[in-house]
Parts: sequence; C-alpha cells; structure tokens
Amino acid sequence: MKLLTFLAGVSAVAALNNGVARTPPMGWLSWERFRCNIDCKHDPSNCISENLYMRMADIIAAEGYKEAGYQYVCIDDCWLSKSRDSNGRLQPDPDRFPHGMKALADYVHSKGLKLGIYEDVGAETCARYPGSRGHYQTDAQTFAEWGIDLLKFDACNINPEDFDEGYRQMGFYLNQTGRPILYSCEWAIGEIMHRRQANYTAILEVCNTCRNTVDITDQWKSVLNKVNNYAKDSGNFSKIAGPGGWNDPDELVIGDFSLSPDQERTQMALWSMWAAPLIMSVDLRNMRPESKSLLQNKGVIAVNQDPLGIPGTVRLTMRKVSVWTRPILPKGSLAVVVFNSQSGGAPLNVSVPVHRLINGNALDYLITDTFTGSKLGKLTYHQDLTVRVNPTGVVMVTMTPA
Ligand code: GLA
Repeated sequence: MKLLTFLAGVSAVAALNNGVARTPPMGWLSWERFRCNIDCKHDPSNCISENLYMRMADIIAAEGYKEAGYQYVCIDDCWLSKSRDSNGRLQPDPDRFPHGMKALADYVHSKGLKLGIYEDVGAETCARYPGSRGHYQTDAQTFAEWGIDLLKFDACNINPEDFDEGYRQMGFYLNQTGRPILYSCEWAIGEIMHRRQANYTAILEVCNTCRNTVDITDQWKSVLNKVNNYAKDSGNFSKIAGPGGWNDPDELVIGDFSLSPDQERTQMALWSMWAAPLIMSVDLRNMRPESKSLLQNKGVIAVNQDPLGIPGTVRLTMRKVSVWTRPILPKGSLAVVVFNSQSGGAPLNVSVPVHRLINGNALDYLITDTFTGSKLGKLTYHQDLTVRVNPTGVVMVTMTPA
C-alpha cells in the first residue's frame, strides 16, 4: 500500500490507482430515497438505521442485484451521533446503530457485499453532524478499523481556503490505513459552489469518483439537467475519467416515484455511456418489475463496466436529438445512444449515417439492441442507422465490426 500511495502522489496524468474502482462502482446509497429520516420511533422500517442497510444488503444479495454487479451498500448523512466519543472518535447514533459499525460491516461482508459510509471534509456534515475537519487521520483509521470499503466525502460547511487540502489529506490517510477504501469525493461541487473551476485532473489523482453536478432529485427535470451538463462537458471532464477515477452525476432514481419507463431507460443508458457509478437510491423492498429488470440489464451494465473505461460523449446533435457514442470492446466497437429530449408528441424517426459515428476505416457493422440483446442486422459504412425514439426516451445499440 505504501508503494501505491507513493505512485498516486507522483502520477501526473493517470487516475488514482489504489486498486479499487477499476470499473465504475455499482451499489446502493440511502440519500435520495431515504434522506435524513431519523424517526425510528414512528417510521422504523424507513429510518436511517442498521436495519435499513441490513435489509438492503439482504435484497441485493438475494434478488439478482449482486450477480448483476451491485456491490456497495452505502450509508449517507445522519448516521452519526451528535458528538465524538471521549477519545475524539466518531460514533454512530447508539439508538439507530445499536450494534455499531463494525458489526454492520461484518454483516454486509457476510453477504459478499461491501459497506460505504459518509463524512464531510468540513466542520460539519450537510445535516450538521460532526464533520471530519481536524480529524482526518483519526477518522480514516476509524473507518478502516470498522471494515469500511467506501467513503463518500461531502463538501458542506467548508473553509474555501483549505478544503482542497482536506480532500488530499483524507485521501492520503485512507491510503495509509492499508485497507482499500474507495474514495468518493464532492470536491468538484465544493469548487463549483464557490464559483471556482474544478481541476478535474487534480481531483481524480486523489479520488476514485468525482461528483460534478448538484444533488439529483426524483424528477425528470433533474435527470435532464445532468444530461445537459454532461453534453456541455465544461472543463472537458469526460476526457479525464478512466479506470480508477470516474465522474459522478449522482444516484440512479430508477424505481422511485417520478420517471416514466422511457425516462428510466434514458437514465440507465446515459449513466452507462458516461461510465458513471451506478448507485441506486430506491426502496428495493418495493420495486416495479420493469424497474428491477432495467437496473439488472446485462447489456447496458456491460457497457457501463466496459474495461476500456472510456466515457462516452455527444457525437452529434440534431434539433432535440443527441447521439452519444462510447468506444467499447471488442476493439473497434461502439455503444450508441440516440436520445430524444422532446417531451410529449409522437416518437421520432431518426437516421444517422454510420460514417458520422465512426472515426476509423470503412467497415461493416453488426448492430445489436443493447437492452434486449436482439440482433438487428448488418450496416455498411455508407448506410444509415435508422431508429424510432420515444419522447424523453432512448434507443441504445452496440455496433461491432462484422
Ligand atoms: C449533500 C450531498 C448529497 C447528500 C447530502 C446529505 O447535499 O450532495 O449527496 O450526501 O449532502 O446531507
């Protein structure tokens, strides 16, 4: 681990190599769906407590999510006791986590899964629980001793002068523990909130994931806002991500209350194109079958987890339609998403000349529907890919040299 710390410190271009997140992390996080519900007296099955995380771990392990690749069960804000213990160490709320974090980690590990936790680089978390500022080394050690596998590190209540150094220090102390802990940062958001340009290269030398847009909500307009942000790609953040360091547009809200089936497919497809973390925030106890099978869709997840780790970008736009491409394996293949941002009205017929999607030679391509795996036929370099796209929906195909 010492060697890795050293390499991470001196590397100028490569993303962090602390051994984790070689492909985008997949898991579940409580925030968007369960928020800061600490009322276990009146709402015992939905409050932030060890029970909630154990139950989610049970379902991830038993109902196909784990086989699909979901691994991290993640705690967000509001798990903490309002004060540190007499040794200055963090402690979970004793009523809601009566067995402590080590026991919860053991339980999650016994299911073959990993446990994520949440803290803040500033003096307090966003919900005003004790932050890590001034305690980075102690907190990193505490997390490692508990058996934590991922740290989401927020940027509320920060000192704008030194929080970037705080992110570096926490990264350093996490590495020093010798335990591989995925480091999920909101550093870029902290910079953006203070009207500064985020230095994505510097961030992904220290962090495994980089949240670069505001909090997602369970609303189509929020998902669309992320799509527009990633289309704009300001600061060229797409170019910087790769194995070990990924951009993070925030949680999947698939299976919650607001998105239509087409909009859910759009979120799954585009997050996969961007090589974004696939972190569900949904009540896994109450899933519509379509949302569950979408979250477990093998074809789309394979694109997300493609080992080349090259994030997709917008290749062309035609009025309300954007066409996204992502190079994937086998060599020369492409994932393609055609997104119709228009809401309402009839589906659109869209034709895209194959040669406008490809940089290389004039080859023929086998086309597969990514969602269903159905073979759609062969196209030559001079033909058009013609698809019919629902309002606020996508068509996703993979193109493999014939
Ligand atoms: C911030 C983060 C969210 C969530 C909340 C918790 O808003 O961006 O993802 O962690 O804090 O308070």
